[in-house]
Amino acid sequence: MDGSLRVGHTYSPTGEYGINEITILLLRGYELAKGDLVYIAHPKNGCPVVYQVTRVYPHKRVREYEEALLRDGRVITDFEDSTLHAQAYQWGWMDDGDSLRPLRYPLSPNTPVYVAERELIAQFTKPNGDWKLLLGSDPSTDLDVELGLYSLIRQSCLICGAVGTGKTTTAVTMVARAASAEPPVRFFIVDKDGEYSSLAEQLGADKVLKVPWRRFFQPGDVPWEDYIGEFGWQKTWWNSKILVHALKILYAQAAAVTKVNLKQAIGWVKPNKLGFNKKDEDFESYRQQVVNAVSGSKLIPDGDMEPLDPVDLLKDRHVVLMDLSQGRDTWSQKHLVVAQVLRRIFGEALENRRFGCIVVLEEAMYYAPQRGVFEIGEKDSRGKLLGVVKEIATNGGRNGVGLWAVTQRLSTVDKTVVTQCANNVICHGLEDVDKARIAEIMGNKFAELIGDLPPGEAIVKGTALKCRFPIWVKVLPELYPASSLSTPMSRFIHMEMAGRETLPLDD
Ligand SMILES: Nc1ncnc2c1ncn2[C@@H]1O[C@H](COP(=O)(O)OP(=O)(O)OP(=O)(O)O)[C@@H](O)[C@H]1O
Ligand SMILES: [Mg+2]
Repeated sequence: MDGSLRVGHTYSPTGEYGINEITILLLRGYELAKGDLVYIAHPKNGCPVVYQVTRVYPHKRVREYEEALLRDGRVITDFEDSTLHAQAYQWGWMDDGDSLRPLRYPLSPNTPVYVAERELIAQFTKPNGDWKLLLGSDPSTDLDVELGLYSLIRQSCLICGAVGTGKTTTAVTMVARAASAEPPVRFFIVDKDGEYSSLAEQLGADKVLKVPWRRFFQPGDVPWEDYIGEFGWQKTWWNSKILVHALKILYAQAAAVTKVNLKQAIGWVKPNKLGFNKKDEDFESYRQQVVNAVSGSKLIPDGDMEPLDPVDLLKDRHVVLMDLSQGRDTWSQKHLVVAQVLRRIFGEALENRRFGCIVVLEEAMYYAPQRGVFEIGEKDSRGKLLGVVKEIATNGGRNGVGLWAVTQRLSTVDKTVVTQCANNVICHGLEDVDKARIAEIMGNKFAELIGDLPPGEAIVKGTALKCRFPIWVKVLPELYPASSLSTPMSRFIHMEMAGRETLPLDD
C-alpha cells in the first residue's frame, strides 16, 4: 500500500492458496525473521490483514546432477536459482470498533505482502485502558509490550521457563509495577526461597511486609532482623540497637515477644550498655521512637502470640511476603499453613466485595503438584492445599483473587491449575519435555515460536494482551530477585578471602 514496504508476494508451490496460512516469496534483497509481522490488503475493504511469520527458509531448485557434483566437493553457488520463502499465519484485521476479525474472503494468488509498521502493530498489541503494566519490548518492532491488569487478575497468569531463564525476575518486576499502578494491586506472595525480599527495598518498608510463614500459624522464633526490616531501619541505627537489646532482654527472661513485654523491656535498656555517650534527652527520644514503632507493628502481637491474619495485613500493605525459606524439613507444616492462609484470603474475597489480591506461587509445584509426579510433605496436608489452590485457580478470578503461578517444570504442576492459569502465559526458554507440555496446552504454533530464547526473553500470549496471538518480548527488569545479589562466583570469592584472613600470620 502507499508508502509501505513491500517484501514479497503470496506464493503456492501447489497452485492452491489458503487464507489462514500463507507462503510468501520474498523479493530479492529482502528478509523476514520468525515472529515478524506482515500484512496484506483486505480484498473487500482494503484494511491491513496482519500475519505473523512462523518459518523462513531458502528454496533452491533441485537438479539431478547436483548430488553427483557435491560428492566431489563442487558447490554450485548460483544465487539466481534460489529464493527465500516465509510462512505466516493470520492474526486478522481490526474493524471500526477496535475488534479483531478474521479474513474470510479468498486472496488472489501473488497478492503483495508488506512489512507491518509500528503504528499498525501497536493497534493490535496495546491493551485498552490505563490499568496495565509494562512487561518489556518486542525486539522485532521495539514496541512496548503491556499487559492489562484486569485480565491478569480475572484470568490469572502462568510464568514458566527452564532454570535461570528469568522467571523470577519477570514475576518480581510485574509485582513491583502492578503494586505501583493506580489503583495499586495487592499481592500475597508465597515465597519459597525468600526471592521476593528485594521488593521491600524497591517499594519501601511501608508498602511491603515480609512475614515468616510460622507467624501465620503459631508463635515461633522470629529472626530479629525481621522486626528491624518491618520498620525500614538500618542495623546500625540507634533505634535498631535499642530494639535488639530489648529483644535480648526478653530472650534472656524466656518471655514472649508481645507489644506489652517488649515496651517494658525497651524501658530497661541503658544507654551506656549500647555505648551511647551523647545527651540523655537524645536517647529518650530514640527510645520513644522505638516504643511508637512497636505500638504500630504488625509483626509483634499485642498479647500472647496470635496467628497473623493475612487479610488484615493486606489492608495497609501492597505486598505481603510469606517467607517459606526457614525450616527445611517441615513441608507438611508449611502446606498446612499455606492452605490456612489461602483459604482465609479466598473466604474473605467471597464475602467482602471490597477485598481482593493476587496470590503469587513461586515454584508452584510445591503447592499444587501433579499427582504421582512430584510429592513432598504428607498426602493429607498436600491434598488439602491442592484443593484450595485449585479452587482459587478456577473460581478466584471472578471473586477478585487472581493466581500467578511461577514454575520451572510444567509437567510437575497440577493440570487444572496450569490450564486455568494458561489464559495468560509468559513463557521463557523451555526444556524439550516442557515444550511438549506447552504445545498440548497452547498449541504447536506457540511451542514453535519459543525456539531457543536467551534469558530474559519470552513469548507472551493471553487475554491480558489486546491481540490473541503470541508476542515475543524482551522483559525490561524493574528489579531482580534477592538471589541475584550473590552470584556463584562471589560466594567462592568470599570463602577464599575468609580463609586467607584466618591463616596464621607468622608462617
Ligand atoms: N529480563 C532480563 N534482562 C536481563 N537479565 C535477566 C533478565 N531476566 C533474568 N536475567 C538474568 O538471569 C538471571 C536469572 O534470572 P532469574 O533468577 O529471574 O531466573 P529464574 O528462571 O527465576 O531462575 P531459577 O530457575 O533459578 O529460579 C538473573 O540473575 C539475571 O542476571
Ligand atoms: Mg527463580
